Amino acid sequence: MAIDYTHIPSPCFVLDESLLRKNLELIDSVQKAAGCRIILALKAFSMYSVFPIVGEYLSGATASSLNEIKLINDFMGHKAHTYIPAYVDSEFEEVLERSSHLTFNTLSQYHRYKDRVGAWNEKHPDQQISVGIRVNPQYSEVEADMYNPCVPGSRLGETRDKFGDTLPEGVEGIHFHTLCENGSDTLERTLEALEAKFGDLLHQARWLNMGGGHLMTREGYDIDRLVRLVKAIREKYDLEVILEPGSAIAWRTGTLVSNVLDIMDSQGIQVAILNVSFAAHMPDTLEMPYKPRIEGAHHEPVAGKPTYRMGGMTCLAGDFMGDYSFDEPLQVGDRLVFEDMIHYTMVKTTTFNGVNLPSIGIWQANDTFRLVRTYGYETFKDHLS
Ligand SMILES: Cc1ncc(COP(=O)(O)O)c(C=O)c1O
Repeated sequence: MAIDYTHIPSPCFVLDESLLRKNLELIDSVQKAAGCRIILALKAFSMYSVFPIVGEYLSGATASSLNEIKLINDFMGHKAHTYIPAYVDSEFEEVLERSSHLTFNTLSQYHRYKDRVGAWNEKHPDQQISVGIRVNPQYSEVEADMYNPCVPGSRLGETRDKFGDTLPEGVEGIHFHTLCENGSDTLERTLEALEAKFGDLLHQARWLNMGGGHLMTREGYDIDRLVRLVKAIREKYDLEVILEPGSAIAWRTGTLVSNVLDIMDSQGIQVAILNVSFAAHMPDTLEMPYKPRIEGAHHEPVAGKPTYRMGGMTCLAGDFMGDYSFDEPLQVGDRLVFEDMIHYTMVKTTTFNGVNLPSIGIWQANDTFRLVRTYGYETFKDHLS
């Protein structure tokens, strides 16, 4: 059943359990068909109240900070696949204790920490940490520079000229992440570029982590091609393949419920002020930027229909989105539901302006609503002093 918003508080992120399970089932079928491991990238989706559900389908997760590592340990019961662009000395021992795989972003970071990893592995024969290095294949089809890790000057991964004929001693894995909401045709071209530059080193590796950006749960994604590509590279180089998507797992699994607080005329433009903020609660909409869909609204203004700019609740002049048209004029108190607000949106929220964070809830598979958490003054106060 579709979510019944009648008794759901506002503002609130609402995750639809059945939709999450549908995505996870598809992803699980891909990992089984391709013979690879698919793990969750926490940076896109860290709603740990549903990690037990994720764990029914996926066998691990990847972290990009010590806090994400802890969430994986605590709520998935696994050690993390860890990739942090630069490790912090004071955290490194804890990172070692809590990780099964450790990917270094640069060779200098690897050389700085390799003895500590070696010492850990010597002391813990039954908890070996496998080390990888992130490479930059200098090929990405991501158009927005903000999300393109291959632009000149990118700090993300080492280019081929930095390596000799062999992988540095002790490095078992190669990691690349150059996709963002891409199809498997992009992956095919990316692998061609990777092989052209790093083919000799792939023969020496035990695993290849193909990063995230594989949007296999989007309608129209060519899954057969993905399966074919993974199988082929696995067999050709005799290595384990790992994929670490984030978006694909939480893609279109839920919404952000809001309400109209006020309506004003601003020099001929109708503005609806909401109890959510684009800057604080949906910052990716301003960052990317993209225009989120609102259930039941016309995504583009329609001549002759009531049309509104959506105003966020902070004082930032740019905290608005629009315009949208509606079949009926909006009223104060009306509920507006923003679509596809789970991946990246939820993890990026802030309390800028002192605004409360939206609550978090789950529309459960049995068609009941579970309110997981609400936030107030303490949350705002706690990250300041
Ligand atoms: C290293 C790495 N792995 C995985 C991901 C997840 O990517 P996505 O959520 O697009 O699948 C990202 C996203 O930025 C990333 O940087």
